[in-house]
Amino acid sequence: MTYTDKTHKRYTITSALPYANGPVHIGHLAGVYIPADIYARYLRSAGEEVLFIGGSDEHGVPITIKARKEGCTPQDIVDRYHAIIRDSFAELGISFDIYSRTSCAEHHHTAADFFTRLHDKGSFIEKTSQQYYDEEAGQFLADRYITGTCPHCGNEHAYGDQCEACGTSLAATDLINPKSTLSGNPPVLRETKHWYLPLDQDEPWLRRWILEGHKEDWKSNVYGQCKSWIDAGLQPRAVTRDLDWGVKVPLTNAEGKVLYVWFDAPIGYISFTKQLKGNDWEKWWKDKDTKLVHFIGKDNIVFHCIIFPAMLHADGSYIMPDNVPANEFLNLEGDKISTSRNWAVWLHEYLRDFAGKQDVLRYTLCANAPETKDNDFTWRDFQLKNNSELVAILGNFVNRTVVLTHKFFDGHVPAQGELSDLDRETLAELATYPERIGRSIETYRFREALSEMMNLARLGNKYLTETEPWKIAKTDLQRAATVLNISLQICANLAILCEPFLPFTAEKLRVMLAMEQLPWREAGKALLEEKHSIGQAELLFEKIEDAAIEAQVARLQQTKQQNELAAWQPAQVKPIVSFDDFGRVDIRVGTVLECTKVPKADKLLQFKIEDGMGTRTIVSGIAKHYPDPAALVGKQVCFIANFAPRKLKGVESQGMILSAEDKDGRLVLITPSDMVAAGCGVG
Ligand code: MF3
Ligand code: ZN
Repeated sequence: MTYTDKTHKRYTITSALPYANGPVHIGHLAGVYIPADIYARYLRSAGEEVLFIGGSDEHGVPITIKARKEGCTPQDIVDRYHAIIRDSFAELGISFDIYSRTSCAEHHHTAADFFTRLHDKGSFIEKTSQQYYDEEAGQFLADRYITGTCPHCGNEHAYGDQCEACGTSLAATDLINPKSTLSGNPPVLRETKHWYLPLDQDEPWLRRWILEGHKEDWKSNVYGQCKSWIDAGLQPRAVTRDLDWGVKVPLTNAEGKVLYVWFDAPIGYISFTKQLKGNDWEKWWKDKDTKLVHFIGKDNIVFHCIIFPAMLHADGSYIMPDNVPANEFLNLEGDKISTSRNWAVWLHEYLRDFAGKQDVLRYTLCANAPETKDNDFTWRDFQLKNNSELVAILGNFVNRTVVLTHKFFDGHVPAQGELSDLDRETLAELATYPERIGRSIETYRFREALSEMMNLARLGNKYLTETEPWKIAKTDLQRAATVLNISLQICANLAILCEPFLPFTAEKLRVMLAMEQLPWREAGKALLEEKHSIGQAELLFEKIEDAAIEAQVARLQQTKQQNELAAWQPAQVKPIVSFDDFGRVDIRVGTVLECTKVPKADKLLQFKIEDGMGTRTIVSGIAKHYPDPAALVGKQVCFIANFAPRKLKGVESQGMILSAEDKDGRLVLITPSDMVAAGCGVG
């Protein structure tokens, strides 16, 4: 029983199939999987029939590119990442009813059949056109095999199918200065035949369905993207590619062609339903009493709101999604999350570094979910949310209640005596929470729902602070009994109401209170009977210390440095100098006789140099890079012999010692590769 929707009998909930070319990170979680899981868990608790689908997207060019780079097969790549992704989702408690993969045989059959049905109905147009081809690699350049400049925003690294900078979907021939990512060469054009979905013909019904039908209930970011797509005029879209990794085009005249990854992947939702439900699959996709909801990130909007619906519509027997609550992006410490730059918090690494703290991540990511705008994850905020919300509010309330129950009532739920006004108000407020939280979840406002759930814990804390049962118990045990009874009822309600967000905590709470898992409709009232014996107190959350956070921040710092080094380029060459001009600089070799630190100057070393005519003193700013100056004695260095003398920290420097500046800013002395006479010239 839900609060806002009385018309649907069951829910088909899909979450975007992650590409199996890398592990899952916090951006994926906050954008897609945490909200989808909260929604699915809530609906199950509300007694609804739910199917929650996930799986790996194992086709597409990024996977074949990675395989080529690593010298293995695409199947090796997807096997590796599918296992990591599947296991880490399971450990985080993402409650998929099935987590499958698109490389499996059932999916290939379903996707091929889907294509065949549309083909037989005449839903495609067949078109021969000129497409980019890499002569050196001997292959057509679909999608990410080609890069170039985006004609819309000028991003120089746009792909053949999409510009990630402005989100526009592209055809490879739109790119300015196209280049093959295989050979780096400019491609040539070659003739090839493909099948197209004539999206231009879908405009009228898409307008009615989305622009008129969902103006109110779809999120404005989703609605807005759909509107600008439709208003810009939809174009026929190729659904096949000249590649060998993917679902083979099931036609006799289609050698070397596969379905476009964005054609086959969403059909995965359907194939996985068949895998799980067998012959009973159709009602989940074809019965109008089923509510279909797609959880995705904003880069997937056009595929789930326009292209996949157009495929389903062309078939004619499917329902349309009721909603597509796409989220914006989550950033990490102020920077865009990036798999290639390793700028991410990887789920499998989090689970290793913070074992047993799944709910802390679930909580932080839901509280920071980029529901209406891009948002930022920082490790400090993660620590703060744990220490001052989970530990200090939820954990503290439950702990105080359970400990006091053991202390004064031997672990038995004490009797509710006469109720004060405060008791009545508190119970009345408790009764409002299930609906408040439920409505927020049903309308995809998960942050709001979570903060309402925490408000119930806050209510509990406030109640304890005002009633002080630990004091009252000494003089009025009956009053303390009433207070703890009410506090325990709040705890038991929290066990139900926190479950969609914090399933591991809910489980601990149930053990602590020795209660069954109860459905949502039971919440809002007293749940624990008098004399019921509860379990031992156990801390729901532990404080996270600075050291754990600092280690994560340091890891990111290191990544940033590595990225900066990788991006380093030598400085531009200075304007030309003539031979004569160069000749005016007198560079010579000298032998180091003494080398010491200049007192009170942490950057400077003072050299005494044998220059063949005598000795001279030169001060050089390299102290940080040579912590043991004495070790330089006996070495030879190059110096400018006619450099104007100048005073540095009171020492007159008679020349300049030459050193190279490495890409990380480190200074390295220039020394001849063999011993030479002190004073000889360099040129
Ligand atoms: N693999 C895609 C991505 O990560 C999502 C595919 S969703 C599906 O962006 F609908 F195609 F399955
Ligand atoms: Zn662009």
